[in-house]
Amino acid sequence: MLKRLFTKLLRFVFKLLLLLVALGLLGWGVAELYYRIAWQGPVSTEEEIPVGEAAMTQKIIADAITIVETHKDNTRIMRDAHAKAHGCVRADVSVREDLPENLQHGVFAKPGQQYPAWVRFSNGNAYPQFDSMRDARGMAIKLMNVEGKKLLPSEADAQTQDLVMFNQPLFFVSDVAEYQSNFAAQAEGKKVQAFFPSWDPRTWQFRHLLIGLQTLAPPPESPFSAQYFSIAPFKYGPHNSKYRTVPAPEQCPDYAQPTLNQNLPNFLRSAMYQQLSVDRVPACFAIQVQLQDAEKYMPLEDTSIEWREEDSPFVTVAHLKIEPQDFDTPEQNLFCDNLSFTPWHSIEEHRPLGGINRLRRAVYEAVSVYRHERNGAPRQEPTADTQPLTGDLGPQQPDTNEQGE
Ligand code: HEM
Repeated sequence: MLKRLFTKLLRFVFKLLLLLVALGLLGWGVAELYYRIAWQGPVSTEEEIPVGEAAMTQKIIADAITIVETHKDNTRIMRDAHAKAHGCVRADVSVREDLPENLQHGVFAKPGQQYPAWVRFSNGNAYPQFDSMRDARGMAIKLMNVEGKKLLPSEADAQTQDLVMFNQPLFFVSDVAEYQSNFAAQAEGKKVQAFFPSWDPRTWQFRHLLIGLQTLAPPPESPFSAQYFSIAPFKYGPHNSKYRTVPAPEQCPDYAQPTLNQNLPNFLRSAMYQQLSVDRVPACFAIQVQLQDAEKYMPLEDTSIEWREEDSPFVTVAHLKIEPQDFDTPEQNLFCDNLSFTPWHSIEEHRPLGGINRLRRAVYEAVSVYRHERNGAPRQEPTADTQPLTGDLGPQQPDTNEQGE
């Protein structure tokens, strides 16, 4: 009797599982079909600025300042996002010698040209936590000796061009309006409403929820083993583009990262330290660009859409090499903390495009100005000659030995 009941129960559970799998596959198929029909070119090659975007931006800045005040480390104000650095390192960027002519634009105009650079690796969270926590990982590059007028009027004569990326190809919202409503819901602790704002199914954002979940991923073995994406689009001379960096081990001596204890809070910093400062082995990346083909579904105003590689492949335009070095010093960590990276540290040829980038223009500047003022630190773009020891020691030291929350 008991055996028969058990067999019946087993059959029922099996059928239920089968039904769920079938429903899942059907849902997947319908979604695939829907997006194949809905996501078709041609798309605009120009920005389309929605009404009310500027007002929403002001609200987001106010919320960002509240966040940095909430998460301050004792008295020191950190970044609103990517607060925890694994380290800032010096790097050399060289434009490909054999770069095709159609890709010779902006900072990549001259094949063989070299730039010194600073690179900051980070976790995405608004406050420092253990590296083993699921999170986005950032890579921000600051090229030096870049000639030409810069886009931010307050820094028009700076000699820098920044590339600001994290390790996912997609962002979890499409535009500024969605960023504002999602952010506001999350700030009130309403995580479900952030993606399902009303009972109307047309407002439900399943796909964006999935992107959000994918973004909060386990850590890479080392900051040097991840790929990093611009996600948002940029000008590339006469073209529109996205960019990314990918590890380029073929440009560097062979190196196998020793197994590190990932339970230690700052193991990603340790991974960088092990490779560059103990084993004295360089790290290499390729900087790659993907041009927009407006006949395909490669929109400028939606950062939740991946530009498919089969529609337009990424092409290497430059190489970035991080030579062995001793980067983990109090002076360099403080220097790193006081740097500001923004996609708007840019020449016109690489102008940031799309709503999320327009939003970033105001927010990055406001948060950077605020945290430098509150930290009593000078806010100035470095030149190639700026050294970590010269003139930028604010009154407080950043705590680089975060123990997590
Ligand atoms: C395409 C999407 C985005 C990417 C790839 C990205 C990436 C990054 C990275 C890597 C950093 C750290 C830079 C550093 O090392 O100093 C950063 C900082 C920051 N991000 Fe983003 N981010 C994106 C979107 C946004 C959005 C939509 C906002 C808010 C509106 C935002 C606000 C900030 C702020 C305030 C900072 C700190 C700026 C500072 O104080 O210097 N980000 N972001």
